[in-house]
Amino acid sequence: PPPRPPLSSTRSFGRRSTGSGGGEGILRGLGGARALLRALGRAGRGMAGAGGDQGHPAVVFVLGGPGSGKGTQCARLVESLGFCHLSAGDLLRAHMKSGSPDGQMVADMIKQGQIVPSEVTVNLLKGAMAADGGARFLIDGFPRNVENREAFETVMGFDCSGVLFFDCPEAVMERRLLARNEGRTDDNIETIKRRFKVFVEQSMPVVQHYQQCGKVIWADSDRSPEEIFADIAPQVEKLVPAA
Ligand code: C5P
Ligand code: MG
Repeated sequence: PPPRPPLSSTRSFGRRSTGSGGGEGILRGLGGARALLRALGRAGRGMAGAGGDQGHPAVVFVLGGPGSGKGTQCARLVESLGFCHLSAGDLLRAHMKSGSPDGQMVADMIKQGQIVPSEVTVNLLKGAMAADGGARFLIDGFPRNVENREAFETVMGFDCSGVLFFDCPEAVMERRLLARNEGRTDDNIETIKRRFKVFVEQSMPVVQHYQQCGKVIWADSDRSPEEIFADIAPQVEKLVPAA
């Protein structure tokens, strides 16, 4: 599918305004909404813990199958655009080694290629975002299913600004996963096949949801890291500009 232009922030703004009682009237026309958004942004910057213009950090979800290049491109985006990068998988792996009571459950689910209950993952993300305190986050490998997505919105109280999606053929991902040597319990052919199935059945509906909202930056991942980066960096910067 062709890349789609990123959604303007007025969509999530519209949702915020519904709870304020009678606020819809002033949203007549995009110009009015934008002016109001700017005014709120100015107020938001003064709020404790506020990051982005909306009074909360700006989040880009980074999705794509296992081995599609999410981590590689996030590292480059951090370096060039100053984002904070959080990998849900990395946070879960650290959690499973932390000796916490649910660590063994997380370890088992990762080994099986299953999706860990959202409560665990969203709490880890929330903690890591608060600890960093930054205004712009790349959250990689999340949301992996509809439950993940809904839990994030419920717990954090806002949705992502957009989604960066890496579209990659399974044969390419399989080759990359089998070639990487990170000592992971899930980089074996059996678990890899299960992760592909989980990705298609549970994660792609999330991508489709955001595509319907016009929020997806779509990247062909079967290119060199340099080519991919040159393609996506300007789009990500445009979606969530540095303050
Ligand atoms: O993204 P990554 O490949 O590092 O994820 C590894 C594993 O971590 C997944 O296969 C899954 O078992 C678990 N995971 C999860 N929920 C997420 C992200 C990762 O359960 N949102
Ligand atoms: Mg990764």
